[in-house]
Parts: sequence; structure tokens; C-alpha cells
Amino acid sequence: MNYIGAIDQGTTSTRFIIFNDRGEAIGSHQIEHKQYYPQPGYVEHDPDEIWKNTQTVIKQAIKKSGINIKDLKAIGITNQRETIIPFDPTTGEVLYNAIVWQDLRASSIVSSFKSLISADELKERTGLLFSPYFSASKIVWLINNVPLVKERLDMNRCVFGTIDTFLAFKLTGKIITDATNASRYMLMNIKTLEWDEKLLDLFKIPRRALPTIVPSMKEIYGYADILGTKVPLCGILGDQQAALFGQACFSEGEAKCTYGTGCFMLVNTGDKLCYSSKGLVSTVAYLAKGEKPAYALEGSIAIAGSLVQWVRDNLKMVQNAKELDELASSVSDCGGVYIVPAFSGLFAPHWRSDARGVIAGLTGYVNRAHICRAVLEATAFQANDIFEAMELDSGINLKTLKVDGGLTNSNPLMEFQSDILSIPVIRPRITETTALGAAFAAGLSVDIWQNRENLSKYWKEQLRWTPSMDEKTRQNKIIFWRKAVSRTLNWASK
Ligand code: G3P
Repeated sequence: MNYIGAIDQGTTSTRFIIFNDRGEAIGSHQIEHKQYYPQPGYVEHDPDEIWKNTQTVIKQAIKKSGINIKDLKAIGITNQRETIIPFDPTTGEVLYNAIVWQDLRASSIVSSFKSLISADELKERTGLLFSPYFSASKIVWLINNVPLVKERLDMNRCVFGTIDTFLAFKLTGKIITDATNASRYMLMNIKTLEWDEKLLDLFKIPRRALPTIVPSMKEIYGYADILGTKVPLCGILGDQQAALFGQACFSEGEAKCTYGTGCFMLVNTGDKLCYSSKGLVSTVAYLAKGEKPAYALEGSIAIAGSLVQWVRDNLKMVQNAKELDELASSVSDCGGVYIVPAFSGLFAPHWRSDARGVIAGLTGYVNRAHICRAVLEATAFQANDIFEAMELDSGINLKTLKVDGGLTNSNPLMEFQSDILSIPVIRPRITETTALGAAFAAGLSVDIWQNRENLSKYWKEQLRWTPSMDEKTRQNKIIFWRKAVSRTLNWASK
């Protein structure tokens, strides 16, 4: 038998999933890690904890699946993107906690970038726009604020890696990042897929401190020692690109939306690099060795599932997501309440790091169920905003939307999503699309699968939600949502 393992290192947890050669998950293990919030707007992870968890989930998943380790033919990595870890490659020592993608500490550094390069040139070079979300400003913050980082950098003993870099280093000793992850640094030239000398120079980031950019698949990067057996590491994709791949969106015009901690909609634009004028970013969808890159347009939302967690953990309004769903389903609408969860500012299509969250439209009529409903609807409205931008930017008219991620288990959310988008939303039979995408990439690299077309047959529809809301109600709700969004802007600006 042939099995492929995927490490899925996300914002809240680390998983290892083992797939067979029909793309079916046959065993997995998952461990959550601690979130550190040292100050408002700061979010950190402990890289050593993540590495420890990675080792544990690999061992446990193999044990649970009962496979013979000799049958594990390849492993792939998929990971939360943009999060940066500074480490010493000579000792493996972590020099500072991982600065997580949601972290806003480098907002003023991003503002200072604006005097160095125009937004148009930045977009042309990287596909991105000014935001502390991307890795570059986090790296500058580390160099300017952490003496140990600066010291090691001067000794040529510091690497700024995304999570894939860190895990690949721990597993194989190689210092690499794949092109999809590299495209999120705001330092990679989106056309050449190499580090952009001009940007490195402007931002004063030494090239020697960055990993080597490698293809996402069709290359063995190195061998990992898994329970005494050498297993090739041969597929890496950032998690949203992995979900696009796992949803079999291999060709131009195919799109998916993943509802995880955040919510990310990507449309494959083929080998065409499509620039956005509506607040989306251009990114690498995947790079197979020896082929032209496939590009995507992406709309990124920072807060989706994490809003449900916040209501559960910080407001203690419900005990779990199921209870929130039940309450939300117990009322026919939001009772006039709109929640805009701009906890990390607003990402696409607004890109306002000065925005902060609001709950708007409160009256004495509103109860807990309305709030729960508004929590779910917030994600659907945000997804609708990026969906509209995506259609305008790409000229692609989507007739259905493929969805995945934990929040697709919420029936009221998916029903409302279909209503607000006014098209059917479809969930596949295999919902572990992120891990599956990484497994596909690794399996293609060791010829378990011959080509992408062969993989398309594993995508099968499981559930479909179709719209039933009348157009007037839909438009009215969108108007109120946008009014609420306008109330969040400028909140944190001095
Ligand atoms: O860009 C951030 C994204 O990669 C995080 O994904 O699944 O951990 O919310 P997730």
C-alpha cells in the first residue's frame, strides 16, 4: 500500500493526516497550541511548542492508523502563512516567538514603507498591498526590536522563516520555503518568483537571512526521519493554496472559500498574473517544478471561526459552536444586529489596520439568539464582499462556490452564505481539503499520482446549500452590513 502524510500546521492547532492513494483520510491526530496575546494587537506562538506538537501528532496518527511505516511514501507540509519565526540555523535555537499573521505590531513600520515605494510599484512587484499582515514588516520589527535577532543576524546566524521553513528545517535540515509561502512575505517578485533585490534593499532585510524558494511539488527537498525510516518531504503549500489544490481547483476560473480561523477565498487565474483593483491580492496558487506557476487572486478575512471562539471563550455566551448554531437557528433573522469583527483591523477588500470591531443596531428587542445569528452572518457578509470584488477583478462569473473548513459544519451559516451570495455553495465529500492539498502535492512528487487530472476524480459533492432569500431582503441586509463596516474605520487612528 502507498500512504501519504500531511502536516497541517494551522493558527490554532497542528495535525497530521494520513491519506491512502484514493485520497481518503485513514488516520489523524491533532493538538491545539497556546495563543499568546502579550499586548492588544499582538499575537504570538511558541515555535518549540509547535515543533513538539508536530512530532507528537505524526507519531500518534501513525499509531492510530495502524500503517506500516515502510508504506508511508511521502510527506507534505501545509501551514498558516505569513507567520514569521526567527531562528539560528546552526543550533536550531528559536530567537523570538513566532509573530502570527494576525499581529498588528508592525503597522507603523508598514506606514514607513509608504515613503519608500508606491502602492502601485509594490503591487506590480509582489502582487500585495501595504499591510502588517504580510511577513516583511514583522521581520523589520524583529530586527529593530529584538537585540538577540540583530546580534545573530550580524553573525550570519539568523533565518526568518515561515512555519513551513521552520518545520522543513527541523525535519530535513534544509532552509527552504515554497513559492506559495514566499509570495506572502511581500519580498518575493511575483513574476520571477525570486526575492526582489530592490525591496530587500529598501526594507533593509538581508537576503542571506531568507530561505531558498523552492517549487511546491515535483521535488524532493530532503528526507525526514519518521520512526527510524527516511521519508521524503516533497510537497509544501501555504494552507489556503493547499485548500485550493485539495478542492481540485487546478484550472483557471475555479474557486474555493475556506472558513477556518479566518476566511480565505481564492480563484485560480491560471498562468495569468491578474492584478486587483478592488482590494484583493495576487498570489502564487502553486508551482510544480518545471512548469509555469499557477496564480490566484485572493480575498483574505482575518476573523471568521475565531469570532465564534471569542463569543465562546471571552463572552462565555455559549459553551460550544453547536450551541451557537442552535441559538442562531432559533430566530429567523439577526433582529437588526450587525457585528463587524475587525479585531485585527479589516483585511480584504478594505485593508484598514486602524479599524476595530463593532456591534451595531442594538435595541431592547435583541437577545442572545440574535447576537449568535449576527456572529455567523458576519462571516457570510465578509465573504460576500470579497466575492463581489473577485468577480469584478477576474471577470469570472462564478455559478457555484466550493467551500471547506470547520465553519462549513454550521448549517445556518452555509444557508445564509448561499442566500447572501445568491448562488449555491457546495461542500465536498472530503472536507480535509487543506491537508489533502499538501498530500496531493507530495504524492505527485513521488509518482503515486501521475498528474493533476487524475486527482480531479476524487472530488465529489457531498452537500449543497441553495439560495432562497428574496433579492430585496438581500440587498437591504447588505446595505446595513456596509453601514456597520463604515463605523469601524479610523477607530484606532490617533
Ligand atoms: O493567511 C493566514 C492563513 O494562512 C491562516 O489560515 O487556516 O490557520 O486560519 P488558518
